[in-house]
Amino acid sequence: MTGRPTYYVTTPIYYVNDKPHIGHAYTTLACDVLARFKRLDGFDVMFLTGTDEHGQKIERSAERAGVDPQTFCDQVSLKFKELTEAMNFSNDQFIRTTEERHKKSVQHLWKVLQEKGFIYEDRYSGWYSVRDEAFYAESELIEGQGGEKLAPTGAPVEWVEEPSYFFKLSAFEDKLLELYDNNPDFVMPKSRLNEVRSFVKGGLEDLSVSRTTFNWGVKVPDAPGHIMYVWIDALANYLTAVGYPDTAAADYQKFWPANVHIVGKDILRFHAVYWPAFLMAADLPLPKRVFAHGWWTNEGQKISKSLGNVIDPFELIEEYGLDATRFFLLREVPFGNDGDFSRRAFVLRCNADLSNGLGNLSQRTLSMIHKNCDEALPVPGDFSSEDKELLGNIEKTLDVVRGHIDNQAFHLALDAIWTQASAADSYISVQEPWKLKKTDPERMNTVLYVLAEAIRQLAILAQPIMPQSTDKLLSQIGVSERGFDQIGQAGRLKPGIAIPKPEGVFPRFELPEESTD
Ligand code: ME8
Ligand code: MG
Repeated sequence: MTGRPTYYVTTPIYYVNDKPHIGHAYTTLACDVLARFKRLDGFDVMFLTGTDEHGQKIERSAERAGVDPQTFCDQVSLKFKELTEAMNFSNDQFIRTTEERHKKSVQHLWKVLQEKGFIYEDRYSGWYSVRDEAFYAESELIEGQGGEKLAPTGAPVEWVEEPSYFFKLSAFEDKLLELYDNNPDFVMPKSRLNEVRSFVKGGLEDLSVSRTTFNWGVKVPDAPGHIMYVWIDALANYLTAVGYPDTAAADYQKFWPANVHIVGKDILRFHAVYWPAFLMAADLPLPKRVFAHGWWTNEGQKISKSLGNVIDPFELIEEYGLDATRFFLLREVPFGNDGDFSRRAFVLRCNADLSNGLGNLSQRTLSMIHKNCDEALPVPGDFSSEDKELLGNIEKTLDVVRGHIDNQAFHLALDAIWTQASAADSYISVQEPWKLKKTDPERMNTVLYVLAEAIRQLAILAQPIMPQSTDKLLSQIGVSERGFDQIGQAGRLKPGIAIPKPEGVFPRFELPEESTD
């Protein structure tokens, strides 16, 4: 196919058993930044998120809430949709597994797996965790404080015995190992690939893929009483969204296989073992990458409802503004590592990099232009070697950032952009444009023009992480062409355009009081 290169990025679909928290916002934010980056870089993008609405966990949550499961799903799914708006996510679709198109898709996938001989009927007896929606072998279980058996995640388990269909996962051991060996980037970060590889090397048992002791799920075709295991249902969402089972659909043709599934480390096994096995069994192309990011804690503690320390993304946005929130989450912690959320770290980071960093740079520059150049962008003279160096380095940053983004190394991408903002700060200190007004007004004009050019390009580069603030910044200097093809090309800014008195874009935050307990 000709035309623009394509990029398909997905989030996990979130369980609707509870309202969204910072962890969900984090994963989708990472995908949003990838999607925005690729669009600005000329790609045709599909960015998918949504909600996972079937299974015993949801059925029980609905019962507890005293509403029927569909009504319950409608209510909670809406909260996730509201989060996408509050976070300014640019997802192209929001899929729900209770949609008809999805039921059709996953039932089709089931039939293909069955026709190809990878599904058989038997009985399951073993441990199941409803909270994790996962089967565990006896040997994986740990002992709780009261001596009770727990999943390795700490979730309760229950003994299950029921008729069940099985997927022949054991047939895929060698094929999966071959996949990991031939595609070392299939699972990232690398430490996670090793984890997955040793899990598979340890031997794979066939996977129970239907349940018969509850109702809330997609029905197994031609097998009354059987509900599909929620993970086969959930994983297939990535196919449904691009038109499966219609593999001739335009979106399927364009976007499958996905470029990257971004997930948390808790669900890596499902994405890096089960999912490629299902796809291989169905003769479908495999996604190019599964990236598993780390886990957020809150002020050093595990985030949990029972501890009452869940970080509400809506409150965070209310308190600090959206773009500071977006910036902090991806700048503070290397993507892939665990991270600790603390208000102190938040305030220190945003004050240093946003209000003192990029904010101060643009505020100072635009104020000087407004005051000293008749409220308009001045005409520059010839560029000195320092001017060329500053702008040349910013131009080179696009490639650097592109490389980091392709590795999902958001913190490094942001670091590369902010290194150039610091270089522009140093340039101001060296050039001292405020002194030039009397001694060499022409040179002052050139320096201020170069700074405005630097700001234009840095703001263009920073759009994926902070779409609203960079929009304000770019509007203040009259920039409407904002694609990455506009990077470099110093001289894009038209001398003479009005530079109104600048408005601060990044507020300064007060440090929270040290807690004494
Ligand atoms: O697992 N830190 O849904 P889920 C970082 N429906 N990320 C976190 C987090 C934290 N403390 N808490 C949650 C499911 N997450 C399935 C997925 S996909 C086909 C089906 C994020 O609602 C992280 O991305 O339990 C994690 O993988 C996801 O939420 C789990 O969401
Ligand atoms: Mg979970």
